[in-house]
Amino acid sequence: MMLSLACTTSIALSVACLAAPRPIAIVPKPVHVKPTKGQFTLTADTVIVATADAEDVGRFLAQSLAPATGFTLDVKPDAPATARTIALTIRSAKAFEVFGNEGYALDVTPTGVKITAHEPAGLFYGVQTLRQLLPPEIFGESKVTGVEWSIPCVEIEDHPRFSWRGAMLDCARHFMPKEFVKRTIDLLALHKMNVFHWHLTDDQGWRIEIKKYPKLTETGAWRKETLRGHATEDGKGDTFDGMRHGGFYTQDDIREIVAYARDRFVTIVPEIEMPGHAQAAVASYPELGNTGAKLDVWTSWGVSENIYSTDEKTILFLQDVLGEVIGLFPSMFIHVGGDEAVKTQWKKSAAAQARMKELGLKSEDELQSWFIRRMNTFLESRGRFLIGWDEILEGGLAPGAAVMSWRGEQGGITAARAGHDVVMAPTSHTYFDYYQSKDTSREPLAIGGFLPLDVVYGYEPIPATLTADEATHVLGAQCQLWTEYVPDPKQAEYMLFPRACALAEVVWSPRESKSFADFTERLATHLRRLDALHVNHRPLKP
Ligand code: ACM
Repeated sequence: MMLSLACTTSIALSVACLAAPRPIAIVPKPVHVKPTKGQFTLTADTVIVATADAEDVGRFLAQSLAPATGFTLDVKPDAPATARTIALTIRSAKAFEVFGNEGYALDVTPTGVKITAHEPAGLFYGVQTLRQLLPPEIFGESKVTGVEWSIPCVEIEDHPRFSWRGAMLDCARHFMPKEFVKRTIDLLALHKMNVFHWHLTDDQGWRIEIKKYPKLTETGAWRKETLRGHATEDGKGDTFDGMRHGGFYTQDDIREIVAYARDRFVTIVPEIEMPGHAQAAVASYPELGNTGAKLDVWTSWGVSENIYSTDEKTILFLQDVLGEVIGLFPSMFIHVGGDEAVKTQWKKSAAAQARMKELGLKSEDELQSWFIRRMNTFLESRGRFLIGWDEILEGGLAPGAAVMSWRGEQGGITAARAGHDVVMAPTSHTYFDYYQSKDTSREPLAIGGFLPLDVVYGYEPIPATLTADEATHVLGAQCQLWTEYVPDPKQAEYMLFPRACALAEVVWSPRESKSFADFTERLATHLRRLDALHVNHRPLKP
């Protein structure tokens, strides 16, 4: 075994290095890991060998190794027989049966590293594992000296348990800068997560440029101030910060972010909320609402009663918006919200009541169902699928639509039994806006709740009551970071990590191999990686 420079500087350290090879601590845990003897050492002469279909992933690997090592590794279609190589190979013949779309095999021997997959996504996940086999300092954002870039010899075979491995970020309640959105996508990819659900519109802000309706961002992207702390019961004691808040993503920003995500095998699912959580849009165009009143973009938290009207003009407006959204986002699923639409205004509105009568509908829930079906028909006509929060089940749901189950698991169970695809997102296990400790005095102000790491880790996305057939409709699960009480990227990272590491293992690793004790042991090493990346994670033992 070659001693690293760091290890030769003190006897104690070198003994430690000889006695205990660096433990393999991959998060999320791979399906099969078989350590073998020896190590491969990455040097400036290592060559990344990638065939044409693997070249992009090869370049990603070279770029990710460059900052900490200072090496600019060549990516070539072949290399001299003497060179030490990292070989990335797409194998098509019969390989799908072995790897699926996202699986890979990784073999490290003293003379080379081989990653094999059926698809580039699988190679990419193999590369993520390879990064985690290197010393944690490899995640450093500038050159690190005194570290030997060794990789323990190992044979790994790996593939994900679920196809939807997601995280939702609310950029409406607090605008998050473009660079942070990209960093979040990077961090998701590092954990082999593949869906970024982007909550772009809400009562308190509209964040996506829509060319046909410029006031959505001229007006709707800005609120004059923000509630301080929690709202008081009757609202009379509420105080505000007096500071204008806002921002939005231009369509160029969005194209840039979508391309960035695509390069990391992350699909962005955009969410345009309707018919509720619409006050920022109604403030921009009062004719979209039920009362015609001139409103402000909301400065408080909660659920506004200012929802969209059911007029044909409003439906067409939203279809125009979705048309532009489809042009920007290649995602098969487009999220239309559907949650928490209080119906008080529809109950009082002569136009909404006339609409119900004209359509022969018996309740406002059925009216919402009709509203969502109009969007479903539109999306399907453009070759896309609708997804929404579980309220979209109320009053009936179009056959191809998918459901995100947030009010517990029942919505997901009902939807799966009815043949709808489902993403599990229950408050009990996936709401990362909840406190991470019972001692809230030592935590940043949060919305409430209590969701510690072990509860996230213990989550099982397939409800026990589903049959095996019904369970095939559960695509996976995702965490949600609502940002009423998360004003900036630093706090967002604190709320996301390490809970997102636990969720990554829930959706990637085999159910039978899960162990919280083993996870926390690996997490200790993994947090050193996040430290190297300057992620503001919550410490394991604060
Ligand atoms: C939600 O938390 N209203 C989906």
